[in-house]
Amino acid sequence: MKRETIAIHGGFDFDPTTKAVAVPIYQTVAYSFDSAEHGAALFDLEVEGYRYSRISNPTTDILEQRVTELEGGVGSLSVSSGQTALYYAALNATEMGRNIVSVPQLYGTTYTLFAHILPRLGVQVRFAKTDRASDLDALIDDDTRAIFCETVGNPAGNICDLESLAAVAHRHGMPLIVDNTVATPMLVRPIEFGADIIVHSLTKFLGGHGTTLGGIVVDCGRFSWTKHAARYPMFTQPDESYHGLVYTEHYGAAAFIGRCRSVYQRTVGAVLSPMSAFLLLQGIETVAVRMDRHVENAIKVAEFLRADPRVQSVNFAGFPDNPYYPLVQKYLGGRPCSLMTFEIRGGLPAGMRFYNALKLFKRLVNLGDAKSLACHPASTTHRQMSAAEQQAAGVGPGSIRLSVGIEHIDDIVADLDQALAAAGA
Ligand SMILES: Cc1ncc(COP(=O)(O)O)c(C=O)c1O
Repeated sequence: MKRETIAIHGGFDFDPTTKAVAVPIYQTVAYSFDSAEHGAALFDLEVEGYRYSRISNPTTDILEQRVTELEGGVGSLSVSSGQTALYYAALNATEMGRNIVSVPQLYGTTYTLFAHILPRLGVQVRFAKTDRASDLDALIDDDTRAIFCETVGNPAGNICDLESLAAVAHRHGMPLIVDNTVATPMLVRPIEFGADIIVHSLTKFLGGHGTTLGGIVVDCGRFSWTKHAARYPMFTQPDESYHGLVYTEHYGAAAFIGRCRSVYQRTVGAVLSPMSAFLLLQGIETVAVRMDRHVENAIKVAEFLRADPRVQSVNFAGFPDNPYYPLVQKYLGGRPCSLMTFEIRGGLPAGMRFYNALKLFKRLVNLGDAKSLACHPASTTHRQMSAAEQQAAGVGPGSIRLSVGIEHIDDIVADLDQALAAAGA
């Protein structure tokens, strides 16, 4: 099926018990065993079934199947937020004493996780100078276990050259982990360009309505942990914490996600609630049409801003003279997402006046809502960074980030126009 169809039907036809055609919300913690033997077999992973909703749940299962199909992977694990997905994915690929090499253009809290939290657990993250594959390659050593990037950097708007990054990762025998939150699988399926693990904040465009936090890790199933067994013994050696289970033997191509669930979800337990999974599934049903409209509106907004003399600069990869424009064509099918940053003339004070004057655009820290949203990254999402770190992440002191919504374009432009007027007044 095409992605537009998977978004509506993936993972679910109708409820076998009641014939309900909407996904049922299985609001249960536990599941009844037929017998003591049945319970034991479930715990030994000898039979399929549910045990406890920290491990899996029929409603979250459907969400996982749908996103797995959308991304073209072999399995997924849904979690309570995008941050949890990133945390689990990074820990699952590494061990104490190892490192990850990352592009510098990252969402602010991902940067904090990588620069400050993972190192305390013994996992270093090395940030390349740029998102060029050669700059990441230069940082790889014997202890590197993964390469990380965002398909479209938030808020930098850079587009990562997935094929080149995957080539470097695979040449060194390690997976490429990609955060595909901003693009969504409607604009790009990173697996088609070599990605091995995909992470999403479902909170954003996939959920699409700013109602529900959620995250997911998708296993593309193509990285051979057995071929690189010396580097990834956690997948190929018996796990004492799970009565000697060998993940590559038990889960085959889905070893990464099997271990992520059995180790991290089972013991950390940052689960997605069935109700949240239901709400996110409602959002995913319309993601294809929403992304079309998001992109169409964003292109018009970017053109409006660029033509306006009150605006100093607009950073939008959809402009043909933007250095990332060729990668928009190659990876995003010419559809440059709906995120952009811009600076208005008059620096930070004018930027603040503009921001305060917005009426339709919501002032907040979120993206990917049906509503148009505006954020000042330097004072919010990227506030914990030094000026130099902000610059590397693509955040200027006066940059305003827009997530262009799906309202009528005339109303969106009218709001920006009146706020620009207020900023100059
Ligand atoms: C690219 C990206 N990844 C991950 C996250 C974290 O997602 P969540 O807020 O669901 O934890 C965000 C949040 O803005 C994001 O923009």
